[in-house]
Amino acid sequence: METIRGRTSYDMDGIELTERLANYTDVSIDLGAGDGRFVRCLAEQSKGKFFIGIDACRENLRANSQRKLPNLLFVISSAQSLPHELHGLASHVSINFPWGSLLESLLKDDACLINGLLSVTRPCAGMEVLLNADALSTADWALESGADQIERVLNAAGWKTTSRSCLDAHALRSIPTTWAKRLAFGRNPRAIRLCLHRFK
Ligand SMILES: C[S@@+](CC[C@H](N)C(=O)[O-])C[C@H]1O[C@@H](n2cnc3c(N)ncnc32)[C@H](O)[C@@H]1O
Repeated sequence: METIRGRTSYDMDGIELTERLANYTDVSIDLGAGDGRFVRCLAEQSKGKFFIGIDACRENLRANSQRKLPNLLFVISSAQSLPHELHGLASHVSINFPWGSLLESLLKDDACLINGLLSVTRPCAGMEVLLNADALSTADWALESGADQIERVLNAAGWKTTSRSCLDAHALRSIPTTWAKRLAFGRNPRAIRLCLHRFK
């Protein structure tokens, strides 16, 4: 699979990945990682856990992927064709403020994405999905009904909802992703957080 540090791409195979993960029990994947700020912050705070940020766009990842942290890896991949090297690794997945084809795939129950999520996670893995009003409106969904639809898709695929909450500007400001900050100070600072866990 293609990994990236700064401007440099590196092809990492499953053996090398297993070596990197050898000392870690918890592996967290952030799908649609954007500039990678979220996983970089978490990796700095939680040195006993391993974090993998995945995004289809390499340019945004350049700055944060330069940080040399032993528990952090960035992978360039489409969410709809996740690398087989990640199979069964993740104890947790986050999808923060998806847009474009990532959001469409969640809304449309795209088997390539949904099966990929099952493939990269362990049984009983946790998942957190943050959805914002503007992104859903560009896909022709209102915030509540779009979140309902994504919750239905994930529930049907084997993810049970453990909590659902609304986020306002104040709540968004406390989430350490670049997009959360942007939304918090924008004209429509409304989002929904879905927490789920895998039950099959
Ligand atoms: C609104 S940004 C959010 C970035 C980051 N999660 C944050 O909160 O700052 C959405 C991200 O999803 C990524 N994305 C969209 N479709 C994708 C796909 N099919 N596969 C992988 N990444 C995708 C985009 O490249 C972009 O970085």
